[in-house]
Amino acid sequence: MKMYLPILFVVSLLFSYSHGSVLDFCVADFSLPDGPAGYSCKKPANVTVNDFVYSGLGIAGNTSSLIKAAVTTAFVDQFPGLNGLGLSMARLDLAVGGVVPIHTHRGGSEIIFVVEGTICAGFISSSTNTAYFKTLHKGDVMVFPQGLLHFQFNTGNIPALAIVSLNSANPGVDFTDVALFGNNLPSAVVEKVAFLDHAQVKKLKAVFGGTD
Ligand SMILES: *[C@@H]1O[C@H](CO)[C@@H](O)[C@H](O)[C@H]1NC(C)=O
Ligand SMILES: *[C@@H]1O[C@H](CO)[C@@H](O)[C@H](O)[C@H]1NC(C)=O
Repeated sequence: MKMYLPILFVVSLLFSYSHGSVLDFCVADFSLPDGPAGYSCKKPANVTVNDFVYSGLGIAGNTSSLIKAAVTTAFVDQFPGLNGLGLSMARLDLAVGGVVPIHTHRGGSEIIFVVEGTICAGFISSSTNTAYFKTLHKGDVMVFPQGLLHFQFNTGNIPALAIVSLNSANPGVDFTDVALFGNNLPSAVVEKVAFLDHAQVKKLKAVFGGTD
């Protein structure tokens, strides 16, 4: 019995090593469903350098829309190498008068770097409902804490460009107006729960694609 103890000790050490080890990476396998911990990992033999490179942020988004702005995301669904790494990026193109409407990211905080133009950006705290907002100029960086309502809009007379990073591979985005007025809740219910009048709700439902 005694002579086996050192062997058992070595074996248990090996086990604790394997428990402590981490994967180098876990590139998303899109053939399997996403879950709270992200996607399953692609087999390492199937991973290529292109899983770690994303070229979609080089092109300006199409700003010919109601909001005159475009958000182009490099989240895990576009960029599988991000899976499990807790970070992502996006570019914001804001034409003159462009607005990224008030929204939240449940999954992460955001940091914005203004590359070109002038952007008014801000967020609202949930604890005291205080607004923190400021006009940002080229070179400025601002952070929006996780889960808080925030917005950006172009206050200049040239198009603005900003690059954002989020500390989640899949931060999600919930636009407040889309959630409120782009849904299938009867207008009477929206009026009641949003404290708005009938005409206003009908108008916003038409703009954001809600039914009824
Ligand atoms: C790995 O790549 C091979 C060849 O391209 C493909 O047939 C197979 O389905 C892939 N397996 C996974 C798990 O992605
Ligand atoms: C931009 O979007 C508008 C409206 O959807 C569309 O008419 C136009 O063709 C698009 N432009 C480009 C360059 O894709």
